[in-house]
Formats: sequence, C-alpha cells, structure tokens
Amino acid sequence: MAKTFKRTTVTSALPYANGPVHIGHLAGVYIPADIYVRYLRAKGEEVIFIGGSDEHGVPITIRARKEGVSPQDVVDRYHTIIKDGFKHFGISFDIYSRTTSPTHYEMASNIFKSIYEKGGFIEKTSEQYYDEEAHQFLADRYITGECPHCHEQGAYGDQCEKCGTALSPTELINPKSTISNTTPVMKETKHWYLPLDRHEEWLRKWILEDHKEWRPNVYGQCKSWLDMHLLPRAVSRDLDWGIPLPLPNTEGKVLYVWFDAPIGYISNTKELCEKEPEKYGNWEKWWKDPETRLIHFIGKDNIVFHCIVFPAMLKAEGSYILPDNVPANEFLNLEGDKISTSRNWAVWMHEYLEDFPGKQDVLRYVLTANAPETKDNDFSWRDFQSRNNNELVAIYGNFVNRTLVLTWKYFDGKVPTRGTLTDTDKELLGEFEETKAKIGTLLEAFRFRDAQKEAMNLARLGNKYLADTEPWKTIKTDPDRVGTILNLSLQLTANLSIAFGPFLPFSTEKLQRMLGIEQLGWSHLGETELMAEGHSIERAELLFEKIEDDAIEAQLKRLEDIRKANEEAKSKEEASHYKAAPQKEEVPFDVFEKLDLRVGTVLTCERVPKTDKLLRFTIDDGLGSRTIISGLAQYYDPESLVGTQVVFVANLEPRTMRGIESRGMLLTTQDADGSVRLLRPEVAVTAGIKIS
Ligand code: MF3
Ligand code: ZN
Repeated sequence: MAKTFKRTTVTSALPYANGPVHIGHLAGVYIPADIYVRYLRAKGEEVIFIGGSDEHGVPITIRARKEGVSPQDVVDRYHTIIKDGFKHFGISFDIYSRTTSPTHYEMASNIFKSIYEKGGFIEKTSEQYYDEEAHQFLADRYITGECPHCHEQGAYGDQCEKCGTALSPTELINPKSTISNTTPVMKETKHWYLPLDRHEEWLRKWILEDHKEWRPNVYGQCKSWLDMHLLPRAVSRDLDWGIPLPLPNTEGKVLYVWFDAPIGYISNTKELCEKEPEKYGNWEKWWKDPETRLIHFIGKDNIVFHCIVFPAMLKAEGSYILPDNVPANEFLNLEGDKISTSRNWAVWMHEYLEDFPGKQDVLRYVLTANAPETKDNDFSWRDFQSRNNNELVAIYGNFVNRTLVLTWKYFDGKVPTRGTLTDTDKELLGEFEETKAKIGTLLEAFRFRDAQKEAMNLARLGNKYLADTEPWKTIKTDPDRVGTILNLSLQLTANLSIAFGPFLPFSTEKLQRMLGIEQLGWSHLGETELMAEGHSIERAELLFEKIEDDAIEAQLKRLEDIRKANEEAKSKEEASHYKAAPQKEEVPFDVFEKLDLRVGTVLTCERVPKTDKLLRFTIDDGLGSRTIISGLAQYYDPESLVGTQVVFVANLEPRTMRGIESRGMLLTTQDADGSVRLLRPEVAVTAGIKIS
C-alpha cells in the first residue's frame, strides 16, 4: 500500500562551488526539481526546496592552488555566481545556502559525533601516499600517473578520465605528486570508516524489495553495487580544507566532502527554519517525521552517495527518515560531445542569461523536452532554435496570441458570452480535465518530459480548434458563435497558464497578468469557467519570439572556436607526454659505415597521381640524378621543395611503389604531435656530400 505523507522535503544536489553551473546541471537536476516543487506548491502541498553550494573537496583546493588564492576565495566567488544564476533562472529554492556556513559546521560535526558515540564507525590505520617535500598526505586527486588499464599518462589517483576506470592511487604506474612533482612515499595514517558492509542487509531489502518503483537506472546501479558487496568507506581525510574532525588529537584531518555535503541539505533546512519559523516550523519535522517524504534530485554520478552512503549515515545516526525516491537523471551532451568543465565544452547558465535575456523559459522548455531521464541525451543549438520557433512560438504562443488579438478585435478585450455548445466545443472542454489528470500522473512519476508534452498538446488542440471553427470567417455571419469560440479559447488559455506553470514560470506569470487573473492553483486546472463573461483582458504581448539564425550561428561559432582551441591544447599536451623510444641494440662502427648517407638537392618534386601521401622526387646525388618516393604529401607542398637540400640513404635496396622505382630514402623526423619534417644540412653544401 502506498504510504501517505503530510509534507515533502525536496533537495537538489549541491553543486561544487569551483565552477559555474551549466545546462547539464540544469537539465539533470535543477529544472526537474523546480518543476516538481512548483507543481506541489501549486497543489497547495506543504513542501520545502533545499539547495546550496558544496564548498569542500579537493578540486576546490587544487583550483585555489593554481590561481594562487585561498579555497575560501574560490568558493565565495562561485557561490555568488551560482546563487545569482539560479535566482535569475527561476529555480525557486526556499533556501540556497552553503557548506561553509557556521550552521553546517555545527550540524556536520554533531552528526559525526552522534554516529561516533553510537559506535557507528571503525578506525583503521593504513598506508597512504605522502609528499615528503610538501610535508602532507596526498589526496587521490593530487597524485597522477599512468593508468594501469589504458596506459594513459596523467590518470588521477581516483579515476582515469580517459577510460573512466575508478582507481586507487596505489594502482597508478609511476605515481607523482602534483604538488611537488616528486614521487610520493607510503606513510601510516589513521582514518574513520563507515562500515557499509554492516548496512548491506537492510539496504538490500530497503532498495531492492521496497523500492522497485525507483527509476531503472537508479535501481540498477544500486543493485550492481549491492551485488558486488559493500566495503567500509573512509569518512575522514588528511587535508587542510574542510570541517575539522570533531575528535581529540586529530589535527590535520577533516571530514570527507561526501560525508559533509549531503548533511548540507539538513543544515540548510535548519538555517531556513530558524530564519522563518512561522513559515517553515521546526527543521526537524522536515527530516525526522516519518510522515515527511524526502526526495533527492541528482545526476547519475551521485546515485551511490544518495542511495547507499547517505542513507547508511542517516540510519547509523538513527533519528532521520530515508529518501522515498531519488529520481536521478542520465547525462546531457552538447552538440554530440560530452559536456566538460575543464574543456569549457558547455553552455553556462550565467552566459545564457546574458546572451538570451528574458528567455529563461525557452531554455527550461528545451532542456525539459530533451531531459536525459532514461538515457543520455543531446542539446544542440539548432534543436533549441527549432523547439522555440516551431513549438513555443508556433503552437503555444500563436494560440494565445490569436485568442487575445481576436478578443480585442471583435469584443473590445472583454470575455464574450458563451452560447450553446457544439460537439466540437464539448470535446475541447473535456480535454482540460483529461490533461490535468495526465500531467499530474506523469509529474508524480517524475516523468517531466512527457508531462510537458501533454501541456503542449493541449495548446496544439487550441490551434486545431481555431483552425476548425475559423472565427475570422464566422464573424461575418454569426458573431454570437464567435463569442462562444473565443470564450472557450480564453478558458483554454487560462488552463494553459496553469498547465505550463511548473515548467514555464515566467511565461505563466506574464500570461496570467495579460488575462488579468490571479495566480491560479493546480486545482483550477480543468475548470471551464476561469474567465468570467465581461472580464477585461490586457492587450496581447508576444509570449515568445522567434529566434533568428544569427543568434544560433553566434553560439555555434563560439563552440567551434572552443573545439579548435581544445584540439590544439590536446596535441600540445600529447607532445608533452612523449616518451622517447628505448635505445636499439648497439652496432659496431663498420656496420654504421656500410650505410651510404648523403646530401642531395631536389631537382623536381610532384605528387604521385591517385595517392594522397606520396611525393616523387628527382634528386641530384652528385653522381647523376635518382628518383625517390617519400610519404610527405600531407606535410609539404611539392613546389616549395624544389631547389632545397635533403639527407638520404643512398644504398638502400631499390623498392617499387605504384610502378615507380624508388632508389633510396629521405631522412625525416616525426614530432610527438605527429608533424613530419625533412632533415637538411644547416647551410647548403655540394650535392652528393657524404654524411659521417
Ligand atoms: N557536489 C556534488 C556534485 O556536484 C554533489 C553533492 S550532493 C550532496 O557532484 F548531497 F552531497 F550535497
Ligand atoms: Zn585509463
């Protein structure tokens, strides 16, 4: 039997305050959470929406070190950018706080102590990498080396970003400290672990039996973790950025970021409730009352932490509720490529707001339409443009605009009287109720894309209704009938403003203002007399505007420039990891002497027809002229080589390529980035001079 709840606590993953938020975060976490919360609020339910910045963790210290500022400087900067961006974008948090707040330090320390006192941790001494020059233990991210799986250089101690394998630092081949670039040594250190193995049994039952309704991606990931069996996980770190371990004699140790961050949800709730007790009541009811439903919105990389680790922490503490659902999304790609903060391959929320002022709802709409709910999905600027122009403008906006314009044209901006209804009319009215039921069911199942589609389908019906009834023609013969048509169209418009409310809050507000109606709750959706006869509406303003090609091209150009810059950086990076080939076996001098190496002058040079690599050279070798074929066509323009000098092996056995006999071989170098160059003497010498 489904449990009944009194209230809902909604959390959305706390973004790391070491970079701005991008469309992947919005599509995966913040937009769905916001839609859900707006829906519950519209239904008049008791709900709280918690957000905040995640301000600890090693990447923040790495960034600070790189920039030569303190970690606090880094998080202050991004916390402000992110917080303002969310506000501007209409993510309607009840609170957006941060994990460096005093309330959070206290809350995280208390929860740690409470688990500790109940014997919920185990202590273990182990050996970890230590940087003797920097005098500190090295977090996994501070160690790089060769990946044992794909042999990529520069894999991190926790993960190889090339092949995606999770690693532990001791698996890295030839590890180096990124702080001092020295080879770290192993040294003993003591840490506190959450013994997840002790929690495995109840977790199995709670997830695999009691929560079969969770999304398949979430359920599946949990199952595979549980099937591999859980191990104790360290919840402390040797680091100088974080919440100090609240135990005696533990200087230099802090809580692991994944221990403190989810507690941030609780701390932020407490901060809010203490600020506005009349509105929100006591914080504990949002976290400890079994009649509260807890929902975590997250991306798929956070599943294990929210479905296994955090619940185990809460259970170990003993007084908290556990999440009822964790609707995690898959990832959103950008123009076919994985979004990447480090490669700047992203559309950033704050930049979007600058480039497309007032168009928050367009991005909200497109990201929901393409939400990566069941599989990874793609954002492309062309699709953004076409969804705006062909759906928001051509369907929803067009219907609303025609309805309002015609109401002004024929009825002076007043809701006309409704006469006898035809079958077509009744059918239309029936759709209001049906849409309400469909959207509600879909939203409650966290199926936001399909829910939004239903709202758009309702607008589509409006357009069809106008096309079928043709009020602009009927007006000449039967103005009363037109009154009925526009009355119903206005009722539909009011319904659309409610149906789209959770998805497109800015347009809803604008539309309800134009219609001159109060903010209407969800219970009014489906009603067919929201607009009273004789009620005045405002003049129509466009709800959405067409987006022109040049705006889209500017975005594509920006991405193209980033792609080019990344490719250049990548070849430089590869060159910097070049490993010289091992030396070949030694040879006696007389073997070397057998080689006839000499300088020649290029007499002619042309492409070998029907090949893309080969050039045919005629070389003055001092004795006469000879033909040499060389694979240089991708690197040199043949004409530019005529008259230059080359170094070649003169006594190599002739080889026939493409029916041409090549006598000898030109000497070249190939650099680590793949570029090929000819060897030449430093100054011109007589053709045929020997190399020795
Ligand atoms: N900062 C994490 C991330 O961006 C999410 C933290 S969620 C919380 O992946 F639960 F820990 F807060
Ligand atoms: Zn790898």
